[in-house]
Amino acid sequence: MKPIIFTLPGNEAFATGLYKQLNSETGDFIIRPFPDGETYLRVGTEVKDKEVILLDSLVNPNVKILPLLFLANTLKEQGAQRVGLLTPYLPYMRQDKSFRSGESVTTRHFAQLLCSAFDWLITVDPHLHRFTSLDQVYTIPNRVVPSAPKLADWIDCQVKDPLIIGPDSESKQWVSEIARLAKAPYAVFSKQRLGDRQVTLEMSDVSSYLDCTPVLVDDIISTGTTMINAIELLKDKFSQKPICLGIHAVFNG
Ligand code: R5P
Repeated sequence: MKPIIFTLPGNEAFATGLYKQLNSETGDFIIRPFPDGETYLRVGTEVKDKEVILLDSLVNPNVKILPLLFLANTLKEQGAQRVGLLTPYLPYMRQDKSFRSGESVTTRHFAQLLCSAFDWLITVDPHLHRFTSLDQVYTIPNRVVPSAPKLADWIDCQVKDPLIIGPDSESKQWVSEIARLAKAPYAVFSKQRLGDRQVTLEMSDVSSYLDCTPVLVDDIISTGTTMINAIELLKDKFSQKPICLGIHAVFNG
């Protein structure tokens, strides 16, 4: 059965490649805000007994989640056999713990919302830190696509003598895998987060690699504070300028 892909606004470029790969049909729908901000939604494709995929990268999730859930529920009501979510960026993975009393673990609540509407989920390298698998929070079948092979290939082709660097302990999982695939050395720094836009980083011993090109790799670049602080630490130490790779370019402000 050919799947039908419904592409939410802003994801068209990614969808083009996907249609070709999956030999899928295009789901036709109208989505627009009413003057009061509520969502108008109308599905134009027959989905009864069909496999349906919703494509939506959930950067800036609060404005996207209601329309997405409405669309998934509407497709279910119209008889879709299964409705899956393909979201390259899975948000709300960072508040995975109540750090201070009274804090909400929004990772769980966001997962509950998605699990209430979707039959499966595919994403790219979610921020798994204190939860080590999506199965610990997502009750629907899920698949994680690793970015490491693509990033390692790119580094291999573009960078001379790379030293892969992770700015904090969480990044070790991605950095170590990329380094293994690119056959390059790696280092992981330590980070303390003091606020949304305030972090302190401490460099590990990189003295044997000062002739390498430092390649900073982080999963999420949000405000950019982590990357900028890491560059500050590196820039006068190495003979080459640092290169930054981010898996999810959230780029807030
Ligand atoms: C958090 O631990 C992530 O791995 C990133 O380091 C973090 O989200 C980056 O945020 P920002 O760009 O705001 O420093």
